Amino acid sequence: ALAQEAVKIGLILPMTGPFASTGRQIEAAAKLYMQQHGDTVAGKKIQLILKDDTGVADVTKRLAQELIVNDKIAVMAGFGLTPLALAPAPLATQAKVPQVVMAAATATITEASPYIVRTSFTLPQATVPMAEWAAKNDIKKVVTLVSDYGPGIDAEKAFTSAFTAKGGQVENLRVPLANPDFSPFLQKVADAKPDALFVFVPSGIGAQFMKQFVERGLDKSGIKLIGPGDVTDDDILNGMGDVALGAITTHHYSAAHDSPENKSFVEAFKKANNGMRPNFMAVGGYDGMHLIYEGLKKTNGQGGQALIDAMKGMSWTSPRGPVSIDPQTRDIVQNIYVRKVERKDGELYNVEFATIPNVKDPVKAAK
Ligand code: DHB
Repeated sequence: ALAQEAVKIGLILPMTGPFASTGRQIEAAAKLYMQQHGDTVAGKKIQLILKDDTGVADVTKRLAQELIVNDKIAVMAGFGLTPLALAPAPLATQAKVPQVVMAAATATITEASPYIVRTSFTLPQATVPMAEWAAKNDIKKVVTLVSDYGPGIDAEKAFTSAFTAKGGQVENLRVPLANPDFSPFLQKVADAKPDALFVFVPSGIGAQFMKQFVERGLDKSGIKLIGPGDVTDDDILNGMGDVALGAITTHHYSAAHDSPENKSFVEAFKKANNGMRPNFMAVGGYDGMHLIYEGLKKTNGQGGQALIDAMKGMSWTSPRGPVSIDPQTRDIVQNIYVRKVERKDGELYNVEFATIPNVKDPVKAAK
């Protein structure tokens, strides 16, 4: 017989450009997973092929095409932003190559191909619990400020409908995704004097937002900062300083999550990466590799239809808590935690204080 063919995983990420922190976190997590679990699955060698799409969707699509045609990958993974996850979806369908979305979080992404499976989250999944918490905690008037593209619009809509259903009042603002200048929007927020400002910006951008929040004096305005946890991302949270203290967010992962699985994940991740703290992107990458490894074990190393079928319904204990892949939607079902930024052992963390268990994407659950 011929020498065993390697099973190839194409990992496409923004390794350069404004969203490089997402690529850096996911690459580190995928490599940690392989270091801990070996590079042989079902008797076959696993080969990880990393490609930098620079955050440009046309590049993601071209790289996916090359990986499918030339490298004959069994599965593709990564996808740091919504447009980067949508671009290769028709190729996944055509070639029957599973596409594991480890980062992008617009609800509709999994509907773009029956070969897409997701290990990150959806914005409505993370956001509805925020609206419910706000309504119960004496917040009556909110301004939403979101990046003007898929996940921001998902967050805005999910928050607005859930919060107004509980009698709250909402004003919506959208800021461009590329090179955002928050200051004119923050001036509007200062003038509107809401009880809370709800913010969604993608991972890595929260620090820029916080800087302008302070420059506009909003940290001293008494307006509470709330939102899904992307704005207080663990990769940059500790660098934000005391302005972030007290921010309330809802999300699926905190580096401070109190479980034995997370303690060992955070410790190993930091050790392998010069002290870098894993964020929610890292856990999406780590769990995505777990899903691929366990799926390949079930299929004896085969990709294609067998692999996507093997992934449906799978459940495991992630560093974030218990998770499963919804066999109908191929989205991840997971706990959403309510957290508050606090100082812990001298560093800023999103400290979880309440849990909403086993949350499905509410957009698809309602269909
Ligand atoms: C997306 C990107 C992010 O960095 C994030 O935190 C949430 C969503 C996206 O483009 O889907």
